Amino acid sequence: MTYYKTITLKDGRECVLRNGTESDGQAAYDNFMLTHEQTDYLLSYPDENSLSPEEESRFLKAKTESKNEMELLAEVDGIIAGLAGIEAVGSKYKVRHRAELGISIDQAFWGLGIGSALMDACIECAGLAGYEQLELNVAAENDRAMSLYRKKGFTEFGRNPRGFKSRISGYQELVYMRLELNRRAPENNQK
Ligand SMILES: CC(C)(COP(=O)(O)OP(=O)(O)OC[C@H]1O[C@@H](n2cnc3c(N)ncnc32)[C@H](O)[C@@H]1OP(=O)(O)O)[C@@H](O)C(=O)NCCC(=O)NCCS
Repeated sequence: MTYYKTITLKDGRECVLRNGTESDGQAAYDNFMLTHEQTDYLLSYPDENSLSPEEESRFLKAKTESKNEMELLAEVDGIIAGLAGIEAVGSKYKVRHRAELGISIDQAFWGLGIGSALMDACIECAGLAGYEQLELNVAAENDRAMSLYRKKGFTEFGRNPRGFKSRISGYQELVYMRLELNRRAPENNQK
């Protein structure tokens, strides 16, 4: 899926939200490695990244060409500040109405409105792709993310007390959240 939108951040800088291209592979890889070092709330550790920069390029190209999956980049002053994406839960009839959302932003750019804008973009695109439900899971102690998701309308539908096992802190409780979608009008998608 393609997407393009320019927003103004809380500090006045411009941020471009856009689908990735093959040439973004290295920058997206670098951002992935950085964000996965900065927080213990994501699924994997940097040494568990299964994609090389070249594979990341192919991943971004495939997501851009996909009709129902997407990987978005948030770019500030030519730097990739964060990534967010939607992925199908499955292709079988009984689950093809559901998609999963993932998001991570470089700590240097937290609190500027990028998370909120990336969430809006993913919710809009998930609706356009025909999904009826967007889902995610989040570490219960991740206050910033929990607050963002609740603000965007996600509601909790369950918890797994041993969902993650952190190398640093042991078990982390996972909260399962979902958002029911209606198809959105395409006017916010400038391209
Ligand atoms: C969670 C994350 C995506 C938020 O991104 P962000 O760009 O900082 O978010 P925004 O600036 O758009 O803020 C969105 C909301 O987060 C919440 N928030 C911001 N700072 C917060 C804080 N210090 N404490 C609690 N909530 C906070 C607020 O609800 C805020 O909305 P508001 O500005 O209208 O009050 C980002 O911190 C991140 O990538 N964290 C590490 C990776 C991660 O945890 N990903 C999610 C895994 S499930």
